[in-house]
Amino acid sequence: MKLAFKKKSADAAGQVDFSRLPRHIAIILDGNGRWAQKRGLPRTAGHKVGAETFRSIATYCRDIGIEYLTVYAFSTENWKRPREEVDTIMVLLKKYLLEAIDTMERDNVRLSFMGDLSVLSGELRELADRCNDISARLTGCLCSICINYGGRAEIVHAAQTFAEECRTGLVKPEDLTEEGFARYLYSAGIPSPELLIRPGGEQRLSNFLLWQCAYAEFYFTNVLWPDFSKEELHRAIAAYQKRNRRFGGVKQE
Ligand code: IPE
Ligand code: IPE
Ligand code: MG
Repeated sequence: MKLAFKKKSADAAGQVDFSRLPRHIAIILDGNGRWAQKRGLPRTAGHKVGAETFRSIATYCRDIGIEYLTVYAFSTENWKRPREEVDTIMVLLKKYLLEAIDTMERDNVRLSFMGDLSVLSGELRELADRCNDISARLTGCLCSICINYGGRAEIVHAAQTFAEECRTGLVKPEDLTEEGFARYLYSAGIPSPELLIRPGGEQRLSNFLLWQCAYAEFYFTNVLWPDFSKEELHRAIAAYQKRNRRFGGVKQE
């Protein structure tokens, strides 16, 4: 019994094959509010700590050579939350981007954004543009932050762009392929995530990367996002590496 407990709580780094890592990991950053409420703090305190957790996990992903990290930070549905919470999330986003502009070069972590940013303040959009500009000079892990992002909205947006190009005669409906359609998504040029992690205990996608996760391996954990650590990431990667990915084919012996 003792041994089993010890094994479970030990760092899973030893179980990770670092030569066979997924190229792209996606994470739903969930559980910030509950993390704070458990401590008698306002929910926004959880978002603040959650932003720090993202910074350290992104840097660690760069360290071990993960090429792409895509995180769900604010959904198209999150506008339903109380005004004060939404406002504080936007203030924290501004703070995060300002700090990123100062540190990205040193950290060699590229930042980009997915979602409809047109509804954000001009100031936030300008900061996002500056992050994109700096990223163009860097080579490290490409971290895509999904803001005002919804998987369905992304697909509708892609379909509208495609339809518009058909109308102008640039492309033809009958020539569209799956690969071709993917080029209209926010994730154009980024391979699909092999591993999707959702902390916070819920086992659902909540409208995240609906197209891209068609064959992702899902890893759910009860750990709340602000408590997520390198050790948790190791556990998720170790679990992923034990999966048999068949893509509709037959089991490899
Ligand atoms: C995720 O944490 C962050 C956002 C959706 C902005 P939550 O705020 O959903 O935290 P819980 O799920 O209520 O604990
Ligand atoms: C998903 O979490 C969105 C983000 C983490 C940004 P939610 O907390 O909004 O999801 P539900 O409401 O539990 O499905
Ligand atoms: Mg939540």
